[in-house]
Amino acid sequence: MNRREWIRLQSLLAAGVFLPDVLKAMNPVEMRSSDFGKDFIWGTATASYQIEGAWKADGKGESIWDRFTHSKPGKIKTRENGDVAVDFYNRYESDLDLMQQMGLQHFRFSISWPRLLPEGSGKINQKGIDFYNRLIDACLKRNITPWVTLYHWDMPQLLEDKGGWVNRDVIGWFDEYSMLCAKSFGDRVKNWMIFNEPTSFLVGGYLVGMHAPGKVSPTAFFKGSHHVNLCQGSSGRILKSEVKNGFIGTTLNCMTVDPATDRSFDRGAAARMDAIANRLYMEPLLGMGYPEDTLPALWRMENYMKPEDEKNIVHNFDFIGLQNYSRMVAKHLGVVPFVRAINVPAKELGHEITEMDWEVYPEGIYQVLKRYHQDYRLKNIIITENGAAFPDQWTPDGIHDEQRTKYIQDYLSQVLKAKQEGVPVNGYFVWSFLDNFEWAEGFRPRFGIVGVDIKTQERRIKDSGKWFSEFIRKP
Ligand code: GAL
Repeated sequence: MNRREWIRLQSLLAAGVFLPDVLKAMNPVEMRSSDFGKDFIWGTATASYQIEGAWKADGKGESIWDRFTHSKPGKIKTRENGDVAVDFYNRYESDLDLMQQMGLQHFRFSISWPRLLPEGSGKINQKGIDFYNRLIDACLKRNITPWVTLYHWDMPQLLEDKGGWVNRDVIGWFDEYSMLCAKSFGDRVKNWMIFNEPTSFLVGGYLVGMHAPGKVSPTAFFKGSHHVNLCQGSSGRILKSEVKNGFIGTTLNCMTVDPATDRSFDRGAAARMDAIANRLYMEPLLGMGYPEDTLPALWRMENYMKPEDEKNIVHNFDFIGLQNYSRMVAKHLGVVPFVRAINVPAKELGHEITEMDWEVYPEGIYQVLKRYHQDYRLKNIIITENGAAFPDQWTPDGIHDEQRTKYIQDYLSQVLKAKQEGVPVNGYFVWSFLDNFEWAEGFRPRFGIVGVDIKTQERRIKDSGKWFSEFIRKP
């Protein structure tokens, strides 16, 4: 047993995994893509700000990420920005050729709102529409099915200047943008996701300030969350009625939250964190209201609630996109406002971690799939993101990213286990197709199954990409 396997064995046992399952996880039977069923969707995911670059080309307006990286460069660990990113705006044809060559038939990307509506609302930028038309057509020409996210964190700065998600007018602005996307692209794009991970952009952007627009305000966070929930329902209805034969979803991050100890205050801490990490955007959508039983601070949502809101938040999406990378371990800490908990850094848990300092915890994806199935009875789940950052070595004979390959295999085997136990999980997208701009971390953490040399923009398929490509090709 090598060191890596030893650490993994220890972490499984420490996490209380049942011994036969530990042995199975350590010696997985060879998995095949056909085990997931012939209609299972296999793809890779990206996001506009992280790959496109061309931040002010062809009439694009400024986004909150443009403003954030330019005005507060110190907020990005490497002081980099997405001005050029991996130049996907100019290189999409050759990138799609590569995707086709790898046999990847489903591609998730997002639309940059300020590329279409530079002021967020009103004036339409035809050149922005043209870009996405070219991109969509280029996908279809190669038999690649587009999966489009409306919002992956790049709000037009001019709307943020008016309060962004915190201003209730955002419902009208987002409806207008949703309608424009549906009418412009809905004839060819059938698979849509409204949001990418509300928890991430609301916590990161409005509560702790590590992401754009960099605000630190519990009020902004709660109010913004309520508006995002309203936008989610409203936009879901627009897409459903405008896109003929549309398959409409939204994506949420989700993770197991374990208490650091079995003591009751740590269990309480885990429940409060869980309310934000897993329930805040899921339960209102299903008509279950806000989880204020567990997180009393949510009582303040009533201040923002109008009579019809509870009903308008609810929408029966065709699918829910779940995204999972790691797990959280919560510890009670009374001084932390309202959640009164902190997340124990994965480094302190002594388990294998990725370059993001996230614990490698494949069982977590199985646990959330089971839990969301049991608690929420979702009819259709797609894993819209899962993947890992590890330091890569570019050697003359390739990029041998053994850890990333193993990570994907281990997580996938847990997805399969959930599927075999009846969870309706019907697709899996690797995050990410290309190395890209990893938000506040800059370009350092590499998530791609295709490597990108940021200086030369050279692309090279990593071993993980070769494995994934072969896996999905070979039944
Ligand atoms: C997700 C996010 C992606 C990507 C990924 C890896 O939360 O949607 O944009 O950054 O994490 O950190």
